[in-house]
Amino acid sequence: MKIAVLISGRGSNLQSLIDACNDDDFPAEISLVISNKADAYGLKRASDASIPTKVFNQKDFSTREDFDAAMSDAIEASGAEFICLAGFMRLLSDNFVKTWHDRLVNIHPSLLPAFKGLHVHEQAIERGVRFSGCTVHFVRSAMDEGPILMQAVVPVLPDDTPDSLAARVLEQEHIVYPQALRIIAERKVRVSGERAIIDGHKTPNGSLINPEK
Ligand code: GAR
Repeated sequence: MKIAVLISGRGSNLQSLIDACNDDDFPAEISLVISNKADAYGLKRASDASIPTKVFNQKDFSTREDFDAAMSDAIEASGAEFICLAGFMRLLSDNFVKTWHDRLVNIHPSLLPAFKGLHVHEQAIERGVRFSGCTVHFVRSAMDEGPILMQAVVPVLPDDTPDSLAARVLEQEHIVYPQALRIIAERKVRVSGERAIIDGHKTPNGSLINPEK
């Protein structure tokens, strides 16, 4: 399955997808990386991997719809049939989300539906939650909404800072996103209503308790 990856910055999640796709038995390949920032480090990661890149600058478009339509055209022209958002920090228009309905996923660094938007690790620490994590979900028009495909959980430590928690969550993002893309490309995922259903869904055993005894 050919996919496009949309980024705005560092691109460490993009890198985890590039690394996964380099495996001969991985069922997806990246046909295009798009950034809305010309200085995004992820663009270098893509060109180092010989993946075509495009930058779309919002100054070149008068409306969000025009910007998104140009992105959509480029994605289709690359042959991609699915899109992964990987730190793409720009709201998408309703039209774009509709065009790519159930062919568009995002990774978010919290256990959705908790802590949407920005500063998620600050929010998690302020609320004193004992666990946080990351979520891969299908994209809907409302920000950080949509059927949940996969989540990973990490403990929140009493002395965590937003940075230390972000690093623990990011490590899981790099594991979860390639796994999610694999089952998508293997066509094991379908969306029914607002739930993602996975063929052969295996669940982990047991529970986690924080604090421990
Ligand atoms: C990641 O933590 C990703 O989950 C987050 O931005 C970071 C991008 O890092 N995305 C969001 O917050 C989307 N709402 P990366 O550029 O190194 O992949």
